[in-house]
Amino acid sequence: MTDSIKFWAVVPAAGVGKRMNADRPKQYLELAGKTVLEHTLTRLLQAEVFAAISVAVSEEDPYWPVCQLSHHEKIITAAGGKERADSVLSALKAIRADAADNDWVLVHDAARPCLTSTDIHQLIESLVDDEVGGILALSSHDTLKNVQNGCIVGTLDRTHIWRALTPQMFRYGMLKSALQAAEGNPAITDEASALELQGLQPKIVEGRPDNIKITRPEDLALAQFYLEQQQ
Ligand code: C5P
Repeated sequence: MTDSIKFWAVVPAAGVGKRMNADRPKQYLELAGKTVLEHTLTRLLQAEVFAAISVAVSEEDPYWPVCQLSHHEKIITAAGGKERADSVLSALKAIRADAADNDWVLVHDAARPCLTSTDIHQLIESLVDDEVGGILALSSHDTLKNVQNGCIVGTLDRTHIWRALTPQMFRYGMLKSALQAAEGNPAITDEASALELQGLQPKIVEGRPDNIKITRPEDLALAQFYLEQQQ
């Protein structure tokens, strides 16, 4: 590992989380005494590897300014964008004065509060000498169907199918230019897909199944269970 290379975390937290049917964005729902976002940021801070954490929040977000962590010395606030990729790009631009092209960036969803230090360090150790970078992912245990108009039109070969998780770890310069090149493309739902569009092949690092994304109301109870198990 080159000593001068820094690690940065980027947290897109500007989504509304419609599928939660809640009175506030899902990253501000309460989970075991804190908000989902506070859990996520605390996990990243506890890893003690990041020069700073750049958090993209909506400009109309009333919860972030009153969140104590928004004033933390290692946390930088950036303006969120229309899509997740726009928020990530904005968070990257917010650290441009201090980040070098070769530095590593770990992008992690605000809505994944059960991230462990084990997963962060596993990802870093696996990829730190890599040219491109890669992502945490899980292989698919279920058989996957291609469905059109409610009918199955094919079965995917699941030996080649992985579910993309976060963090996703890429070089600052490469990630920024890949996202800029892909701006406005609705197919870019994670960082790896922007790199793939450049003809690159990010690596897979097997993650832990407890690193769930809060998407539906029942996920909060599951996240609480995992947080307790991790104690
Ligand atoms: O909606 P979904 O769960 O896929 O969002 C993943 C992450 O991206 C969440 O942390 C969400 O807050 C963030 N996001 C964002 N800006 C958007 C849309 C989503 O930062 N415009």
